[in-house]
Formats: sequence, C-alpha cells, structure tokens
Amino acid sequence: METFQKLDDFLNFAWAQISRGKVDKKSPARHPTFVTSNLDGFPKARTLVMRRSDRKRNEIEFHTDTSSSKMFALEENSHAGIHIWLPKVQLQIQMDVDVEVKVGDITIPNWRDVPTNSRVAYGTIPSPGTVIASPLAYDHAPDQKRFAVLVCHIELIQLLLLGNKHIRAQYKKATNWQGEWLSP
Ligand SMILES: Cc1cc2nc3c(=O)[nH]c(=O)nc-3n(C[C@H](O)[C@H](O)[C@H](O)COP(=O)(O)O)c2cc1C
Repeated sequence: METFQKLDDFLNFAWAQISRGKVDKKSPARHPTFVTSNLDGFPKARTLVMRRSDRKRNEIEFHTDTSSSKMFALEENSHAGIHIWLPKVQLQIQMDVDVEVKVGDITIPNWRDVPTNSRVAYGTIPSPGTVIASPLAYDHAPDQKRFAVLVCHIELIQLLLLGNKHIRAQYKKATNWQGEWLSP
C-alpha cells in the first residue's frame, strides 16, 4: 500500500490515476461521478465518461446532450463536483470545478472524433429524462447541435488514501496547488 510524506508526491500519484481515465478503459477513473446543484435544490450525481484530462491546464472534459438536465443546472450554477473512487489503490479523489459549456460550431472538431456508433448519445428523442409511455418509446437522431463539451476547470482537489493510517490532503488552484494535510 502506497503512503506519502510529501504533498507533491501525493498529488502526482493522484494525477497519474486521473490520467489513466482516458487511456485505460478498465480504470475507474474513466467513469467519474459528476455532481451538479439541480434546480429543485437536490444535488444530482451521475456517471460520465472522462473524455480528456490535462494537468497543465487543470482541466477534465466530458461530453453530453444539450437537452439533458445537467445543462439546465449548469446554466444556473456553473460550479460542479467530480468524484472518483479507485479501489485498487484505495484512493478517493474529489474535485470542485467550474464548468465551461461549449456548444455549436466550436464543438465540430470534437464531434468529428466521436465514433459514429457513439453519436446516438447526442440527440435522443424525446429529450433525456422525459417521461415516455413504454421502455423503448424513444428514438435516436444523432445531431452535432445536440452535442455539448463540458470543460471542467479544476479549482480544488481533495484526496483521501485509505491504509493502516489514512491520509488526506487538499490542493487549491488559488494557492498554486501547494497543498495542505487534513485530518482524515
Ligand atoms: C457508465 C456510464 C457512462 C455514461 N457516460 C455518459 C457520458 O459520457 N455523457 C452523458 O451525457 N451521459 C453519460 N451517461 C449517462 C448519465 O449518467 C446520465 O444518465 C445522463 O447523462 C442524463 O443525465 P442528466 O439527466 O442528469 O443530465 C453514462 C452512464 C453510465 C452508466
């Protein structure tokens, strides 16, 4: 089991795990939980596929349907949470992010990279979350105009590593990621 004495080493370890989300289909970092503050006042959590991570730019990217409820939530409040649990290394990663929503022509380069059979996720009729009469009473009409890129700008990363002695730390963009230990 890993343990860390230095804040930087702990953060480097976490970023190595986050980066696997894009390249390793089996890594749990591929499927973070993305949490928004919904309009009804209840936080809403759902699984998304991590499409890109960039430590230098402090960014995590997701793709979604412009008609999904998370888009309306983000319009009201661009602050969101990301949660990842990595059981093999016993690491929990929590992030506070500010979400930049990209829609329209600016997403065309991203859309070109979406495999044809994956495009069905963007353009479901009726819109995701609409009540329907029976389980399959919906259709797919893949549409680049229904494709949104969510660029999550990371403001805070909090890590919890379970071990004989748990260790916990947080890192803020505002303090240039210098980090501080927390009581677990
Ligand atoms: C393994 C898994 C991966 C998913 N990946 C995505 C994704 O990349 N983008 C997305 O919009 N929804 C994805 N979903 C569906 C979402 O969890 C969610 O049901 C959908 O986006 C509607 O969310 P909303 O109504 O809360 O906005 C995924 C679900 C699962 C179980």
